[in-house]
Amino acid sequence: MIRPFLLAALALLAAPMTDASAQSPVVIKFSHVVARDTPKGKAADKFKELAEAATKGKVKIEIYPNSTLYKDKEELEALQLGAVQILAPSMAKFGPLGLKEFELFDLPYLFSDRASLERVTQGQIGRDLFKKLEAKGISGLAYWDNGFKVMASNRPMHLPTDMKGLKLRIQASKVLDEQMRAISANPQVMAFSEVYQALQTGVVDGVENVPSNLYTQKMHEVQKHLTVTNHGYIGYAVIVNKKFWDALPADIRAQLEGAMKQATDYANKIAQQENEAALESIRKSGKTAVYMPTDAEKAEWRKALLPVHKTVEDRIGKELVAAAVKAVAGK
Ligand code: LMR
Repeated sequence: MIRPFLLAALALLAAPMTDASAQSPVVIKFSHVVARDTPKGKAADKFKELAEAATKGKVKIEIYPNSTLYKDKEELEALQLGAVQILAPSMAKFGPLGLKEFELFDLPYLFSDRASLERVTQGQIGRDLFKKLEAKGISGLAYWDNGFKVMASNRPMHLPTDMKGLKLRIQASKVLDEQMRAISANPQVMAFSEVYQALQTGVVDGVENVPSNLYTQKMHEVQKHLTVTNHGYIGYAVIVNKKFWDALPADIRAQLEGAMKQATDYANKIAQQENEAALESIRKSGKTAVYMPTDAEKAEWRKALLPVHKTVEDRIGKELVAAAVKAVAGK
C-alpha cells in the first residue's frame, strides 16, 4: 500500500517545476517530532521568525511540530522526496538512511561536557559528517544541541544492574541497541510519537531521553522513577532537501543561512537551561522520584556502558571513533 504522505509527495513531484524566484512566497515546510516548548521546538520557531523577517515576505516557513506531519522514519523519506524541505532529526535517526557514522553521537559517555561536544560538531568531524549527507540528496545546515539523557521506568534504578530485563524504548540506532543490551535490558525501537502511550499501557517498561522531551510529552506522569545518569547525548542535524536548497535564488539562500546561524546560536544557548528547568518541573510534579546517583554509582554506570565503544566501533568506523575521542579530549 502506498502511504498517504508518499502519494502527496509524488503529486508534488509530478507538478511542473517552478522557478523559486517566480513564486511568491516560497513556502518551506519544517517538520519535527517534539513539542514547541522544547529547545528544538523553540529554535525552529525562532528560525521561522528570523527567516521571514530577513526575506521580507519572500519566504514563508511553515512549522509542523509534534509529529503532526510525519513521524521519525517517514520524515526522512519525505525530505528526500521533497514533500518537506527542512528537518532536524536527532543524530540517532540517520542509521536507517545508511549513514551509520552519525551514531557516533550515541556512544555512551563520549562527551565530558558541552565544550567537548562543540569540538566535534564545529570541527572537521562535523563537516565530514555533513559531506556524507550529500549522496542522499540532503545538505546539512547546522547542529542543534539538546542535552544529556536520563533513564526512566517504574522501578528505582540506582545501578546498571537494576535495568536487567526492562523493556526500554530507544531511537532507531544500533549503538543504542548495544547500549541497552550492555545493561541486560531489552531495547525496543519506536517512533517518538508513540512513546507516551507505550509507557502508559506497559508496551515498554521505560525509556531514556532528555528531561525536556520527557516533561513536554508528559512521560513523567506515567513513570515513577527517573535517574540522572547523563549517560548519553541527544542533539540534532538540521538538514534540507539539497535540490530544493540549491535551486533557491542565491540572495534568499544567503538570508536563510544567516537566519539559521542566529537560530543555531539561540538553540545552543537555551538547551542546557531548558533541560535543567524541565528536570526541576518533573521533580516538582511529585509524579516521578528523581534520583541523583552517588559517585560510586556513577562509576558503575560508566563501567557497564563504556565497553560499548569497542562493540560498535566497526559499525561507526574505528578511525572516526578515535578522532572523536581525541577531539573530545581537546587534542
Ligand atoms: C527521540 O526520538 O527520542 C528524540 O529523537 C526526539 C527528538 O527529536 O528530540
